[in-house]
Amino acid sequence: MTIDPVDPSALRRSYERAALDEAGLAPEWHEQLSRWFLDAVGDARSLEPNAVQLATCDEAGRASVRTVLVKSFDERGIVFYTNYRSAKGRELAVRPYASAAFVWLALERQVRLSGPVAQVPREETEAYFAGRPRGSQLGAWASPQSEVVASRAALDAAYAAAERRFAGQDVPPPPYWGGYRLAPDAVEFWQGRPDRLHDRLRFRCADTGWVVERLAP
Ligand SMILES: Cc1cc2nc3c(=O)[nH]c(=O)nc-3n(C[C@H](O)[C@H](O)[C@H](O)COP(=O)(O)O)c2cc1C
Repeated sequence: MTIDPVDPSALRRSYERAALDEAGLAPEWHEQLSRWFLDAVGDARSLEPNAVQLATCDEAGRASVRTVLVKSFDERGIVFYTNYRSAKGRELAVRPYASAAFVWLALERQVRLSGPVAQVPREETEAYFAGRPRGSQLGAWASPQSEVVASRAALDAAYAAAERRFAGQDVPPPPYWGGYRLAPDAVEFWQGRPDRLHDRLRFRCADTGWVVERLAP
């Protein structure tokens, strides 16, 4: 049989690496995320294991999605950094909810989190920003994220202007740049299984506390 490499319907893979059951699940969602995140970090095939696809919604209910890097997580949620005036920042200002998905394809795993989003305290942004490479710090000042720019040259000129402005001094975070924390009220762990009968275990925050439910694949 010849397979047409440009026909996506011909691409088929059986997921057989692992299983996920209730007995093996950590008691808290963030502990389970830590376990899987460690696996992904230790797996050389998983590039950027802290990348998530982050979906937001505008006022009219139109969704948009993009990749961001998670820079910390704990029982309070996952934290990412961005420009508060970007498209996502504007959407979060009017609709402070988001959904994020880690996908570790080599491990046949996905983790989805959804819930309210809030800006992190300014001190948290300042502490994170101080540890970034200087070039990234200057880039935050140079880029009006999500705006139309005249040209690449205009962007490079804005970077050069930021370099001059902060010559010989530390670069503070721009006032319009910082972190958001997504505090999930649902976190789903997905492990691929044969015959498309995948394991899906979801932590859901109910009135009585967190419950774990198995979802049909
Ligand atoms: C691997 C990867 C990592 C990224 N990490 C971030 C990030 O941490 N923060 C960010 O603002 N944009 C990040 N981006 C860029 C975003 O995907 C997006 O282009 C940008 O944030 C503008 O999105 P918006 O116009 O929807 O606000 C990343 C893109 C990729 C592909």
